[in-house]
Amino acid sequence: MEERRLGPVVGLGTWNTFGGDVDTAREVVEAALGAGCRLFDSSPMYGEAEPSLGAALEPRRGEVQVATKIWAGSVEEGRAQYARQLDWFGRVEIEQIHNLQSWPEHLPWLERERDEGRIDRLGVTHYAASRFGDLARALRTRRFDAVQLPLNPYERECERELLPLAAELGVAVIVMRPLDEGALLRRSPPREALAELGVETWPQALLKWVLSDERVDLAIPATTNAAHARANAAAGEPPWFDAEQRRLVERFAA
Ligand SMILES: NC(=O)c1ccc[n+]([C@@H]2O[C@H](COP(=O)([O-])OP(=O)(O)OC[C@H]3O[C@@H](n4cnc5c(N)ncnc54)[C@H](OP(=O)(O)O)[C@@H]3O)[C@@H](O)[C@H]2O)c1
Repeated sequence: MEERRLGPVVGLGTWNTFGGDVDTAREVVEAALGAGCRLFDSSPMYGEAEPSLGAALEPRRGEVQVATKIWAGSVEEGRAQYARQLDWFGRVEIEQIHNLQSWPEHLPWLERERDEGRIDRLGVTHYAASRFGDLARALRTRRFDAVQLPLNPYERECERELLPLAAELGVAVIVMRPLDEGALLRRSPPREALAELGVETWPQALLKWVLSDERVDLAIPATTNAAHARANAAAGEPPWFDAEQRRLVERFAA
């Protein structure tokens, strides 16, 4: 799989998938690892996904990056979340402030963790275009190394300000919701059109559409299905789409 600043370009999201079901977590995580994924995204907001992910990663923990989040209204609660994450994961490679929540309060203690080498990168996330102005303001402090935002043919608002800003500041970009939470998968273009794009499946076309924007470092599709995890990882191989191929995907998604 192609590697960019955060390693192999397809990772795995964990929202609304295995939750506390450790057997499913092991199955999906093993499939993703076997197919070359090396970054796994989670959050305290995703029910029991963090401990399940920790258990599933345990045998190969040294090979992967955990990107999880602090989702807390106070520093005390945020620190308690971080302490639990250290129990589950050993360390956190990318710690993100979820939905910008209390970010000015959390940044100082998280920066200390990063500066002392316990965290590799600090990130910030939001899913709603209505908060992208606030996300941009947070990035302009130059205190974040990564940003997580939605990008797919239905949700392109980040192209206006955030992607150019991230490129200018050297901030790594993680794409959430690359399949629009599955909404883009309700119908698929004909097989000949997929062949013309050089892919086997419609989810692969959508993932390649995201990754063909060179400002993107990583897409984190989520799945409950090991075969889907393998197929998604295969979309991380070049060649990437040119402008015309991207437009074709946009037409099929419309
Ligand atoms: N949604 C948000 O607002 C949000 C916010 C912050 C962060 N994130 C992060 O971003 C990650 C990804 O976003 P997301 O989970 O919201 O949505 P997504 O990855 O765009 O879509 C997930 C949906 O796509 C389906 N799917 C995945 N691969 C497939 C394949 N190859 N074939 C057919 N169906 C496939 C999954 O169903 P199956 O289980 O059947 O495969 C699931 O219903 C999250 O898990 C989370 O880590 C999301």
